[in-house]
Amino acid sequence: MERNFSRILVTGGCGFIGSNFILAMRRHCPGTSIVNLDKLTYAGNRMNLSALEAKDQGYDFVHGDIADPELVLRLLSEHKIQAVLNFAAESHVDRSIHDPAPFITTNVQGTQVLLEASRKAKIELFVQISTDEVYGTLGPAGQFSESTPLAPNSPYSASKAAADLLVRAYHETYGLPIIITRCSNNYGPFQFPEKLIPLMITLAWEDKPLPVYGDGGNVRDWIHVLDHCRGVELAMKHGRPGAVYNFGGNAERTNIQVIQSLLDILGKPHSLIRFVQDRPGHDRRYAMDYSLASSELGFHPNYIFEEGLKMTLTWYATNREWLRRVQDGTYREFMDAWYGDRR
Ligand code: NAD
Ligand code: TYD
Repeated sequence: MERNFSRILVTGGCGFIGSNFILAMRRHCPGTSIVNLDKLTYAGNRMNLSALEAKDQGYDFVHGDIADPELVLRLLSEHKIQAVLNFAAESHVDRSIHDPAPFITTNVQGTQVLLEASRKAKIELFVQISTDEVYGTLGPAGQFSESTPLAPNSPYSASKAAADLLVRAYHETYGLPIIITRCSNNYGPFQFPEKLIPLMITLAWEDKPLPVYGDGGNVRDWIHVLDHCRGVELAMKHGRPGAVYNFGGNAERTNIQVIQSLLDILGKPHSLIRFVQDRPGHDRRYAMDYSLASSELGFHPNYIFEEGLKMTLTWYATNREWLRRVQDGTYREFMDAWYGDRR
């Protein structure tokens, strides 16, 4: 039986995956109203959803923190929210190595605040958007399944694992209906250019050196963000309360393979590559067994990596203004001058 919610709360909807999810949901499920709660950290970009703000009655933006208990409880009750989808997070491993504290505040405490408010408001479903990184690292063979023990290696992945355990505990202790989704590395439109693919695109355009950590042999499984968003939508509609679902993209590549493919598409020389000091605690390989999501939800990734990569390059090339505003910081202003007559 399909669950069709009339009112959902999406947190972190101005980030990379949240923006794509909200845009996809407004297309697929126009009967579902969305409230987007976002703190607008450096990673939050309100311009991503400016078209919805301008004309969509089924979309509301709220500027605020998931770790604010009064605000969250008020939103859940005022908007009669039925389901919460928690995308909000500090999400960059390198930043977590530099300063773990905000990762604990948002990813751990923030998730607990959302869970507590969801319990009090008796919401019908809480979906936690998690990551394959909670499982730690793999050797050359094997895949992560949902029963692989959690063994996170970075402050980021440790904070996501802690959040997953709290979500599980709220289900076991209080009977809160929850689903946890764990996905591999996303790529696609609106990704902040600190992450591997958009960072390398922007550097290569300017003929600047591309920093590759260690020997470049670390393997990630790459999934197009819209495949991930479809997985989350399937989990929300058809998932089993209490379940964990892995999503993957069927595209294991070493970092050096990804970067060489990008340079080849751009017609830039491989001599731009620079091997630099490795990231501490750098996970060697991720790979996802998503057979549970296939059998229970009908999930399969649609994008073929090299095609998705070309489409992503085209997106960044045709959205240079978006990129310029992210790079020069003016995206944080969400200026009327840009969208004025459409609002
Ligand atoms: P992102 O960094 O692009 O966006 C995060 C968003 O959360 C931003 O809009 C930010 O303003 C908001 N936010 C941060 N702290 C907040 C707070 N305290 N309250 C409210 N909003 C807050 O991240 P993303 O790449 O879109 O990732 C979204 C989710 O998906 C995260 O939970 C991440 O762990 C998970 N995930 C990401 C990937 C990936 O490859 N990017 C893979 C698997 C899972
Ligand atoms: P990243 O996009 O930070 O995602 P994650 O660490 O969550 O997997 O990095 C993807 C891979 O690319 C990871 O193995 C680290 C590597 N990497 C580099 O080699 N150079 C870089 O400048 C960055 C940002 C990442």
